[in-house]
Amino acid sequence: MRSITNVLLLCIVTLSFSQASADTYVLTGQMLDVRSGKMLQNQVLQIANERIVAISSRDSATIPTGATVFDYSQQFIVPGLIDAHVHLHGNATDHGYRRLADSLPTRTLKGAVNAARTLRAGFTSARMVGAPGFADVALRDAIDSGAIEGPRLRVAGPSIGITGGHCSDNNLLPFDSEVIGEGVADGPWAMRQRVRRNKKFGADVIKTCSTGGVLSKGTEVGAPQGTVEELTALVEEAHSHGLKVAVHAHGASGIRNAIAAGADSVEHASFIDDEGIRMAKKAGTVLVMDIYNTEYILGEGEAAGILPESLEKERRVGATQRESFSRAHAAGVKMVFGTDAGVYPHGDNARQFARMVRFGMTPLEAIRAATLDAAELLDFADDVGELTVGHYADFVVVDANPLDDVSVLENPAAVVKGGQLISAQQD
Ligand code: ARG
Repeated sequence: MRSITNVLLLCIVTLSFSQASADTYVLTGQMLDVRSGKMLQNQVLQIANERIVAISSRDSATIPTGATVFDYSQQFIVPGLIDAHVHLHGNATDHGYRRLADSLPTRTLKGAVNAARTLRAGFTSARMVGAPGFADVALRDAIDSGAIEGPRLRVAGPSIGITGGHCSDNNLLPFDSEVIGEGVADGPWAMRQRVRRNKKFGADVIKTCSTGGVLSKGTEVGAPQGTVEELTALVEEAHSHGLKVAVHAHGASGIRNAIAAGADSVEHASFIDDEGIRMAKKAGTVLVMDIYNTEYILGEGEAAGILPESLEKERRVGATQRESFSRAHAAGVKMVFGTDAGVYPHGDNARQFARMVRFGMTPLEAIRAATLDAAELLDFADDVGELTVGHYADFVVVDANPLDDVSVLENPAAVVKGGQLISAQQD
C-alpha cells in the first residue's frame, strides 16, 4: 500500500496555514481537466463532506493546520472512472451451465465482492445492466449507505425481453424445468408491465435486448428480437418514469430497431451498418461497445465454461465489432466506455482503454468516454465525471501521464472515492 505513505499529516512549509479544519486537501502534481483536455499543474483540491469545495493553484492555496492532506504531487490524477456496462453478480470463471449452480444469495454475495474489486481498479461509478432478483438494487443501496465498499451504481434490475431471447434466462434448462426468466415479456403491454415492475422495485435504468447474443444458448447474434412496436412501448414507458433504456444489440437490423424505438444506448453494436451509424448520430444514441471482451472469451472462455456454440458466435463477432467501433467513432457517433465485466474478470475493466485507442480514439477521447460522457449517459453529470467544484471527490492516481499511455490506468497507484482513500496498488 505504497500511497499510504503519501497521506501526510500536514507539515508542508511551502504552503501557508490557517486554523484547524476537518477538510481534506489533495496536492496534485498534475490533474487532468477532462473538459479542456489539459493537464493542469500543481492543483490543490479542497474536499468537505465527500465533495470538492475548492480548486486552487498550489501558490495560492491556504491549508489549515491539522487538515488531512493527500500528497500526490509527483503523480497524475484523473476523475474516477465509470464503466457503463457491468454485471457484478457474475464471475468470469462461471459461464454456461456453471451459472445454474448459483443461487440468488450466492450471486448477491459475488456482487459485493466484485463491487469492491471494481472500485479498487479505479471505477468509482458503474452501471449494472441486468441482474437477478433486484440484487443490484440491494447492492447499490448497501454501497450508498456505506455498509460495503463499491462504486456508485446505476442499476437495471432484471433485463427485459422476449421469450427465448438473450434477455430471458439464457435458455439453458429444458422445457420441463419450467424456468421462465423474470424479465420475460411478449407484446407491448407486457413490456410496459415489466418496466413498471422494475421501476417499482428500484431500477434506475431499463435494459432490454433487440437481438440475440453470444453467450445465450440458441440465440442468433444477427437476428432481431422484439418488434419495433414492443421496443417502442418499452422505451416510452421507461421514459415516462424518467428512466433511460440500454438495448443489447449485435445485428444491424436489431440495432436500427432499437434506435428507431428511441433507445438511449445500444450495447455491443457489433454489426452496426452505415444506416445505423447515421441514425445513431442523428438521434444522439450512445454506443457502448465492449471491445476488450472478445480477447477473454476467445482466450479463456472454453476453460471458463462458455458453450462451444457461443465460442463459435464470438469468432464471428469480435473482430467485426472492433471494425465497427472504428467506423462509428470516425463518423462521430457518441461512444461511452462499457466493458461487460463479469463476462471477463472484474477489476480488469481498464484494459479496454488501450483497445479503444488502438481502434481509433485518442487517449483523451477514451478517458472522456469513461468520465464526462459516461456521467452524462448515467444521468450523473452533476456529481461525477470531472474534477470540479460541487462534484464528489472521486479520482484515480497514476504514476505516469495517461495522455501519453492510456494503459497506465490499468494500475492505479491510489483510488479515492468521496474523499476517502480506498486502496493503493500492491507493490
Ligand atoms: N454479453 C454479450 C453477449 O452475450 C457479450 C458479447 C461479447 N463479445 C463481444 N465481442 N463483445 O452477447
